Amino acid sequence: MSELTVVVLVAGAGTRMKSKTMKVLHPICGRSMVGHVLNAVAAMEPSRVVAVVGNQREQVGPHVQEILPDAILAVQEEQLGTGHAVRVAVDAAGVTEGTVVVAYGDTPLLEGESLRAFAAEHEAAQRAVSILSGIAPDPFGYGRVVRDADGDVVAIVEEKDATPEQREITEINSGILALDAGFLVEALPKLRNDNAKGEYYLTDLVGLARDAGLTVGAHVLDDVRQTEGANDRVQLAELGRELNRRILRRWMRDGVTVVDPATTWVDADVVLAPDVTLLPGTQLLGATVVGEDAVVGPDTTLKDCEVGVGARVVRTHGELAVVGAGATVGPFSYLRPGTQLGADGKIGAFVETKNAVIGDRAKVPHLSYVGDAEIGEGTNIGAGTIFANYDGVAKHRTTVGRHARTGSNNTFVAPVTIGDGAGTGGGTVVRQDVPPGALAVSSGAQRNIPDWAQTRRAGTPQAAAAEAAAKRTAGGGEESHNGDPGVGDVGQPGAESSS
Ligand code: UD1
Ligand code: CA
Repeated sequence: MSELTVVVLVAGAGTRMKSKTMKVLHPICGRSMVGHVLNAVAAMEPSRVVAVVGNQREQVGPHVQEILPDAILAVQEEQLGTGHAVRVAVDAAGVTEGTVVVAYGDTPLLEGESLRAFAAEHEAAQRAVSILSGIAPDPFGYGRVVRDADGDVVAIVEEKDATPEQREITEINSGILALDAGFLVEALPKLRNDNAKGEYYLTDLVGLARDAGLTVGAHVLDDVRQTEGANDRVQLAELGRELNRRILRRWMRDGVTVVDPATTWVDADVVLAPDVTLLPGTQLLGATVVGEDAVVGPDTTLKDCEVGVGARVVRTHGELAVVGAGATVGPFSYLRPGTQLGADGKIGAFVETKNAVIGDRAKVPHLSYVGDAEIGEGTNIGAGTIFANYDGVAKHRTTVGRHARTGSNNTFVAPVTIGDGAGTGGGTVVRQDVPPGALAVSSGAQRNIPDWAQTRRAGTPQAAAAEAAAKRTAGGGEESHNGDPGVGDVGQPGAESSS
């Protein structure tokens, strides 16, 4: 292919979005609308990309250059029409030769392959102007492709300038054109704005090419949705549903099981391995990556997460978290940024984690908050443990060693370190480091007041139950013993419930 310039028009206001955010910046399947277009454009490997910006260019310009750092920004101060916009682009980039493809920034379903095939056909046919057209059952609002008796394209007529007969034409101009640069540079200054909208129409180049005896043609794209734009939020949602359907279809063909495509949402940049299963109500967002044989869902949202091979993530909300191979998460887990769960590890029900590195085969099974922590391999954290990382002023870290066993209902007051193979009793508040192998116990010795129910709750079912038990014991059972609760009785780590 010869030198290729792609011009992307994004100067319009897009007022129908009724938003302080510029239309083409609205997200759809994890990218901005214009982000999808730029992605398709980049797939053509063009010599240069020129974005024509105008309205809210302080928002749009940096966004475009974040995606394509080499893109040239051409500023169109006043929106005088698509012909004027392209002229601004050609002037800014100094285009003189090759092919120029014009696209709009609000067609998120556009695919690079379609653009590439269109440009290749344009060059092979040696046309001055090629139109990417489509058949629209409801062509209202579009420019219509007018053909002569031989079927040759003679003009594009805008809705407002069309005769009633021309309005019956269903072949529409998608807006995407391919142009010979030499012709374009010569013809652009000849465009006039004496039409219904008082704009310089890019589409008038068709007539100018014909007048000059040059070739004009149209390539009918069967998949018209690729060139559909979103003008308001209703259309944005419709295009979002369609784009999601296409993304899911692609993954299913690549070996991913999607049990319910209607309630499963996968962003454009997500990567899924074969034999991944997505259960109903799953949203995989951003740059999430899921490994082979992993099962995600139901009712799970993961943004920018990495799920390892064979892992299981159930009813979970996660962001910037890594779940190791074979690990299990959920149900009802909240993985916040910086969570890293090792291979075959577990984060269980009603557990919130943040900046937490949890080792291989380590488990936090129940009802816990784990913030700013490191937990060694094979360690089990008892139910209802709070890693108290914040002293009201600053955040501190907690380190728990390898193969430790901590009791239920513990509080680890950071900064604190619990050594390898150490343990803690139930209800322990750990304020000082626990050496490797030690058992930390912080609650006071247990004291039992005998016959309390019978004396202080006389006449209640509680007292009756206690009396009955006492009678059974007196009748030959073992003695109840009250005194001396040794360390072994206080919050044995057996309370850790590591099911
Ligand atoms: C245009 C086409 C029409 C086609 C339709 C497809 C012309 C004259 N008409 O009509 O044939 O069927 O798109 O959607 O080309 N823009 C600028 N600067 C301007 C004017 C527009 O950057 O001065 C940008 C807009 O932001 C938008 C695109 O160009 O992305 C199209 O402009 P719009 O005014 O929507 O053109 P239509 O009337 O829809
Ligand atoms: Ca439009």
